[in-house]
Amino acid sequence: MSGAKTSTADTSKNRDKSPKKTIAAQTQRAPSQSATARNDLDAYWVPFTPNRQFKAAPRLIAKAKDMHYEMTDGRKLLDGSAGLWCVNAGHCRDEIADAIALQAHEMDYATAFQMSHPKAFELASRLAGMAPGDLDHVFFTNSGSESVETSLKIALAYHKIRGEGSRTRFIGRERGYHGVNFGGISVGGIVGNRKQFGNMLNGVDHLPHTHNLEHNAFSRGQPAWGAHLADALEGLVTLHDASTIAAVIVEPMAGSTGVLVPPQGYLEKLRAICDKHGILLIFDEVITGFGRLGAPFAADYFGVIPDLMTMAKGISNGAVPMGGVMVRKGIYDAFMNGPEGTIELFHGYTYSAHPLACAAALATLDIYERDNLFQRAADLSGPWEEAAHALRGLPNVIDIRNIGLVAGIELAPRPGAPGTRAYDVFLECQKRGLLIRVTGDIIALSPPLIVSQAQIEEIFGILAEALRSVA
Ligand SMILES: Cc1ncc(COP(=O)(O)O)c(C=O)c1O
Repeated sequence: MSGAKTSTADTSKNRDKSPKKTIAAQTQRAPSQSATARNDLDAYWVPFTPNRQFKAAPRLIAKAKDMHYEMTDGRKLLDGSAGLWCVNAGHCRDEIADAIALQAHEMDYATAFQMSHPKAFELASRLAGMAPGDLDHVFFTNSGSESVETSLKIALAYHKIRGEGSRTRFIGRERGYHGVNFGGISVGGIVGNRKQFGNMLNGVDHLPHTHNLEHNAFSRGQPAWGAHLADALEGLVTLHDASTIAAVIVEPMAGSTGVLVPPQGYLEKLRAICDKHGILLIFDEVITGFGRLGAPFAADYFGVIPDLMTMAKGISNGAVPMGGVMVRKGIYDAFMNGPEGTIELFHGYTYSAHPLACAAALATLDIYERDNLFQRAADLSGPWEEAAHALRGLPNVIDIRNIGLVAGIELAPRPGAPGTRAYDVFLECQKRGLLIRVTGDIIALSPPLIVSQAQIEEIFGILAEALRSVA
């Protein structure tokens, strides 16, 4: 860490303000008094985080390189979760950093409406070439949440321009995570993300989730049981009538809710039922896109092609916010039939296809291709699976599931205190130099695709120690 420890940051004023620890104290820098005041931890409302608990013992990251983070106190952490499932090529890749810097000097921002810039088209063409089937067009956004909203709006508008404007209903799935905007939380199925925010979108229904420990505990890859759960879509069609349903949206593998791998045959069934009833199928590939399962997209991995596919995260290796929605040719073409000179879709973001994001994404795709990282993930998925399932039998482990370079380890919740056991494991792992992600009592592991076999052993070795140490 840079800078020497001085007394400046340790003023009595700051000590009096405990537990509001200053960032200056964390980084051991020597700021001016006014900088110290501005760096108080109070002002930042940290997302999806218990703020008071966090600010009492903040965990601040200062640096990152390849597979590791470095905390402000100099401790190194092996990144077992690729940041938030986004740093697929590893941290601070020189090519990406250089591309961003160059772009920032050359052209910082290009007006996004009625104007554009060459890299936006270059990136779109690259993505169209990569995406399966005729997912040939891309609408750019800045995040996964925006990608979800965009996909829902395209689905509605598509039906409307084809004279099927009665198709306004969306079908999501219990335990689904589709970001945090109103459309996303409406089709999403995580109660904590919904209950504070009123009625949300009208006309949304949900499929049952596919998680079942009784039938599928300790499955390797896709569980054998559960394809029939897709039949619930037929039930919803019977209830609402297909003429009212615009789209079904699911994560092909649900990540944020705790690694739910689709049962064998489940996605195929969803596809067939959607086709039968003229319902669009949206895959939310914000996590699964860009190699996480050992193929470019989950759609490739499972051999099921959706009508719309959201993406974000790995598209730019997390280096600059970016997202997008891939759209099948027939859907895009349907919009292009109206009179020329009219806007086909009244939607867009100031920062759609931001030049810095495009530069980062192009450099990221270069790395994926040059280093064959998706194949690397596929090659490592065997040893990964073995290492994950070796945790079976450790205290409180009630399920282990895996696919590609993802693993979920589910713990029995403490009576009356759900989530606390996994959180303690998270803290124990950090003490031992490993960053993991927990959601409720489920540990989710998804390292950068550059992880080595030795680092896979290290991840599961540290996790095993942590599991043994937590009651
Ligand atoms: C499947 C899925 N969709 C959407 C999102 C939201 O992405 P963002 O946080 O970039 O808005 C996430 C984030 O984890 C996700 O996993």
